[in-house]
Amino acid sequence: MCGIIGYIGAGEALPFLLKGLEKMEYRGYDSSGVAVVSENKIKVYKKCGRLKELENALKNEELLECSAGIGHTRWATHGKPSDINSHPHTSKSGKISVVHNGIIENYISLKNFLTQEGYKFISDTDTEVIAQLIDFYYNGDLLDSVQKAVSRLEGSYALGILCSDEPDKIIAVKKDSPLIIGTGENENYIASDVMALLLRTRKIYRLQENNIAVIKKDSITVYNPAKKVLNSENDFEFVNWDIESTNKGNYEHFMMKEIMEQPTVISKTVSSRIKNGEIYFDDFDIADEYLKNLSKIYIVACGSAANAGVVGKYIMEKLIKIPVEVELASEFRYKTPLIDESTLLIVISQSGETADSLAALREAKRLGAKVLSIVNVKGSSIANESDYVIYTSAGPEIAVATTKAYSCQLCILYLLSLFIANKLNRISSDKLYECINKISSISDKIEEVLSKKDEIMEIAKKYKDTEYAFFIGRNLDYAVCMEGSLKLKEVSYIHSEAYAAGELKHGPISLIENGTLVLALLTQDKLFDKMISNLREVKARGAKIFAITTDIHKDKISQIAESVFYIPDFSNEFSPSLSVIPFQIFSYYSALLRNCDIDKPRNLAKSVTVE
Ligand code: G6P
Repeated sequence: MCGIIGYIGAGEALPFLLKGLEKMEYRGYDSSGVAVVSENKIKVYKKCGRLKELENALKNEELLECSAGIGHTRWATHGKPSDINSHPHTSKSGKISVVHNGIIENYISLKNFLTQEGYKFISDTDTEVIAQLIDFYYNGDLLDSVQKAVSRLEGSYALGILCSDEPDKIIAVKKDSPLIIGTGENENYIASDVMALLLRTRKIYRLQENNIAVIKKDSITVYNPAKKVLNSENDFEFVNWDIESTNKGNYEHFMMKEIMEQPTVISKTVSSRIKNGEIYFDDFDIADEYLKNLSKIYIVACGSAANAGVVGKYIMEKLIKIPVEVELASEFRYKTPLIDESTLLIVISQSGETADSLAALREAKRLGAKVLSIVNVKGSSIANESDYVIYTSAGPEIAVATTKAYSCQLCILYLLSLFIANKLNRISSDKLYECINKISSISDKIEEVLSKKDEIMEIAKKYKDTEYAFFIGRNLDYAVCMEGSLKLKEVSYIHSEAYAAGELKHGPISLIENGTLVLALLTQDKLFDKMISNLREVKARGAKIFAITTDIHKDKISQIAESVFYIPDFSNEFSPSLSVIPFQIFSYYSALLRNCDIDKPRNLAKSVTVE
């Protein structure tokens, strides 16, 4: 949510800033801006709309000589998207310019204070307060004034700060929002995401909580809140990500590229954890004694990660036989969770930076639980603060709507369930062996589904003008329907809701009328006939049914559904990995046919670092 970038060096600041912003546009895309310092003056350019608006506005500017600058791509929180509310924000004296990712919770009282001191504000943002506050304290020492200003801020903030009187440096600050420093040849950088730095450097330093860095072209000095200098060469790390994976390749959209990558990334996620028919978690060294005393598992997450958690709950309760509760992180953090040392909290997050998930993690730790996170981004805040981390190997995911990271999360949840069930002797060795074999074959089975993606495109054509849809299923199918429904509404803007099929008649069925689209998932053999009854109920009320099931049910389903997509007959437990794929593809084509901005759906951002 919002991406910040900064450059200081001998070269050209502006091209670097724009390239970096392009890589981070997924973090927010309602406006963007840059500030560069040239001849002791800060010049600011900002534009409402996509990054290309800013690029067009800058075409005729001769800024190539600027050797220091900061930039921002915004997801509006305070104040609507507009040129004025876009970042960077500059103090009234024109000396201090700031880009910010996060929220300043006490900005109103700071604004009142600064107004009394004669400061005037031109935007509706919380960020403008930071620029003015630093300006208020500025007496020729930028670091000192930043330290003083930051001590008065409440909330979350990753900041990049530029000062016209000290053009040889940018200052970076981090609290509860990600910030990475990169180091290059006679130039250094900051960014919210490693991806923005990869074109120039792979040597990075992750700024830790509450620390401040003074970044010059040939030095990086990090201070802790007690103003002690911290960094050493040992704290730098090398990132070995493949730059190609941050490009679209031959695909029109990242979403389809990432859907198609699923067999590969699942195979990577799974294969390294299965050796000689056994499950290993090298990254997860949990004591057997702790597992034996486990009385409850909480799964906490947001969005699709929470939907993966619901799949996890069904499977864990079945295999481990321990109560599992799935909570949205935004709810968990403000309720009274019943947690003690015998509770394991599992946080699931692609980005590892989601503000609510991070806050839930901290709350659970405070209450004494151990925290295991399932995270895609190495070194992210959630990974750093967890007792145990299991990484998914989805690689960089760029489309805002997640596909491959969700699928990898499912596989980790399966493996983890089996691993714990085995440790607690709750699964027979035959069943364990059978499950491991099934999980090992998921990628091949997904390939089969992907090879029929054109069939789904044809089905999407039939329903592209639908205004609302219901997803129904039972048990694990219901859990997958939650993700299918989220996917469809996120990218195609078709209003959709997921219901447990048995619940439909307790209210929602009143919305079914002639032509209502119902997407039904039927992979759970024991529940197949129950589902057929539910489908008859909606069909009797005029619904059009698009069903996803396996070949073995062909006869029955073809009598009732208008459209059917068959997935391979695979396994009742691990069917979510296959059944979610047609939903992803259906959502993609529905969005494409409705001319939606697939990779950057309206109002969304991929990494939500504010509450
Ligand atoms: C945002 C994204 C969703 C994602 C959710 C959780 O809302 O748009 O796609 O599922 O955040 O993100 P996380 O990075 O924690 O998995």
